[in-house]
Amino acid sequence: MSFLGTCLYDRVMKASETACLSQWRESLLTEADGKVLEIGAGTGASIDSYPEKPSLELYLLEPDRHMRKKLVERLKGSGKNDVKVLDSAAEHIDAKNDFFDYVFVSLVCCSVDSPAGALKEIKRVLKPSGKLIFREHVAAQPGSDRRKWQDRLNGMWGFIAGNCHLNRETEKEITEAGFVIQTIQRESMP
Ligand SMILES: C[S@@+](CC[C@H](N)C(=O)[O-])C[C@H]1O[C@@H](n2cnc3c(N)ncnc32)[C@H](O)[C@@H]1O
Repeated sequence: MSFLGTCLYDRVMKASETACLSQWRESLLTEADGKVLEIGAGTGASIDSYPEKPSLELYLLEPDRHMRKKLVERLKGSGKNDVKVLDSAAEHIDAKNDFFDYVFVSLVCCSVDSPAGALKEIKRVLKPSGKLIFREHVAAQPGSDRRKWQDRLNGMWGFIAGNCHLNRETEKEITEAGFVIQTIQRESMP
């Protein structure tokens, strides 16, 4: 993400956060506990959504230095001093095998260089009993008008929005990486 993109990110996202994203994030994170890793934590929009559980140990991974700076500032302001910040990319997570109980991704599978590489790494660092929680924007149905526009605008959008892809088939990528999807809810952003 560019310096400018980072400065504008929270402002650009505000309306969507208020309309639905915050609520979806909070309900998804209710069950998070134990060692929890958030990948691509950005400016820290999720920090206050994690449940207050003494057993929850939070790790936030953010490889982009501009985003990470904002993340660290937000963490300081929140008083959450025991959160660990990692700077590796999702494709090379700096953690042992079978380490985390939960991994959370929010609007990240659209932006990583290699969704397959990132998901393989997530599987590696998750305990066999661990869970991946995801909240992602994805490709519309093939052949739909929305999908045609996603395909047309994809290159330009990626350039503006920090490598974000509009047309990734993330659910397929997740199952191809060997995850079994227990629950999935598809929503349109109001
Ligand atoms: C659209 S932002 C989402 C930020 C935050 N998760 C949220 O929900 O507001 C995408 C984030 O993914 C990060 N990202 C991009 N490529 C990544 C990679 N290979 N590994 C980990 N994070 C990555 C970006 O730096 C950015 O912070």
